[in-house]
Amino acid sequence: MPETDAVGLTLTGASPQAAADYRQAVSLYHSLYGAPLPLLERAIADSPGFVMAHVLKADMLLVGTSPDVAAMGAAAVDAARDLTATDRERGHVAAAVQMAAGQFTAAGRILEDVSIAHPLDGVALQSGQLMDFMLGDSRMLRDRITRALPAWSTQTPDYHAILGMLAFGLEETGLYDRAEAAGREAIALEPRNAWAQHAVAHVLEMQDRRADGITWMRTENPAWQKDSLFGVHNWWHLALFHLGLGETEEAMAIYDGPITGDGSDMAFDLLDAAALLWRLKLEGAATQDRFVKLADAYEGKGGLGLSAFDDAHAMMALVGAGRDSAARDLMASLEAAAAGAGDNAMMTNDVGLPVARALVAFGQNRFADAADDLRTVRSRAHRFGGSHAQRDVIDLTLIAAARASGETSLERALIAERVAARP
Ligand SMILES: [Fe+2]
Repeated sequence: MPETDAVGLTLTGASPQAAADYRQAVSLYHSLYGAPLPLLERAIADSPGFVMAHVLKADMLLVGTSPDVAAMGAAAVDAARDLTATDRERGHVAAAVQMAAGQFTAAGRILEDVSIAHPLDGVALQSGQLMDFMLGDSRMLRDRITRALPAWSTQTPDYHAILGMLAFGLEETGLYDRAEAAGREAIALEPRNAWAQHAVAHVLEMQDRRADGITWMRTENPAWQKDSLFGVHNWWHLALFHLGLGETEEAMAIYDGPITGDGSDMAFDLLDAAALLWRLKLEGAATQDRFVKLADAYEGKGGLGLSAFDDAHAMMALVGAGRDSAARDLMASLEAAAAGAGDNAMMTNDVGLPVARALVAFGQNRFADAADDLRTVRSRAHRFGGSHAQRDVIDLTLIAAARASGETSLERALIAERVAARP
C-alpha cells in the first residue's frame, strides 16, 4: 500500500518516515508556521522520488521570495518533473511548472481542477488560493474554497486551514461578518494559523475597526508573533491599525523592529516595508534615512521587472529615497516587462506602469499628473494582484496628490467616497 497524506491521498514515492515528515510539513504550511522546509528536505533525502515533497517545496519557494530562493524552487520543480506520479500529483507538478514560469493564471487553473477532483487536497487549495492572491482574483479567492467546503468537516485533519482560507476569500469579496466568524473559528482551533489571523485583521482593516484590530493582534491571539512564516505581513497589518489611529510612532517602531529589523530581502517582506513607509510618508512622518536603506535593499536584491506588484512597491522606495536614476531604470524595466509575455506583461501594462509613473510624478511634485494617472488605474488595480488593503495605498496616494495639487473638490469627493466605504 502506498503512503498517504492526512486525508488519505496517495503520496507516490514516499517511505513511511518521509510521509510522516510530509504530513507534519503540510500542517505547518497550513498555518504558515514553524519550519516546514527542513522536514521536506529530510523527506526528499530519504525518498528522492517523493513527488509531493518536491512540489510543496517548490510551492513554498517560488512565489514572493528572492531570486536565489526562487531558483531553489525551480530546481525542486525540475526534480519532480519526470517522477512517477498519480493524476493528482501530476496536476501539482504541472501547476508548479507554470508557477516557475510566472504563469499564475495557468497554475491557478490547473490547481482548480485538482481541487474539483480532490476537494480534500489542502495543498491544492492553499497553493491555488495563493495564485488567486497573486492575480487579485477576489471571486476565486472565495469560490475555490467554498466549492471544496462540503467535503470538509470538523473531523477533517487541519480543518482550521480551510476555515482560514475561507475567511480570506469571504473578506476579499466583502462578506465581512462571515469572514470574521470563519477566521475566529479557525483561530479557536489553531491559534498559530497566521492566515486565519490575517483574514480577521483584513476584516477589521476594511471596517475601520482600528482599536479592535490592535486588540486582536496584540491581546486576543498573539500566537502569530512567534515563529511565523507570515509574521512580517501580519506586523504590517498591526502597524496599519496604529497608523489609522494616528499612532505614527507605534507604526514606525513596528517598521524598525519586526518588519525590517532582520534585514530580510524576500519580496513579500520588502513590499510590506515599502507599503508602510510610503504610508508613513503620506502621513507626514519623519522617515529619515529609512527610504535610503530600503532603496538599497531593493537595488541589491535584483529581480525587478518580474512582478508588477513588487515593482510598484520598489518604486515607492526609490522615489522616497530620491533615487532618480534608479527610478528611470525601473521604468525601463517595467516598459520591457509590459512588452513581454505572460501574466506579468498584462499586470505591468495595465497597472504597474501607470502606478509607477504616478509615483515618479508624485516624487517630482507633479501632483496633478500623479492624480490623473492614479484615477485612470484605480478601478482596474486588482489586476496586478494583492489584497484590497494593500491596493488601498493607491487611493491614499491619490487623495494626497489631490490635496497637494490644490484640487480640493477632488479631494473632498475622494474622502466622501472613502467614508461611505468604511462606515
Ligand atoms: Fe494582508
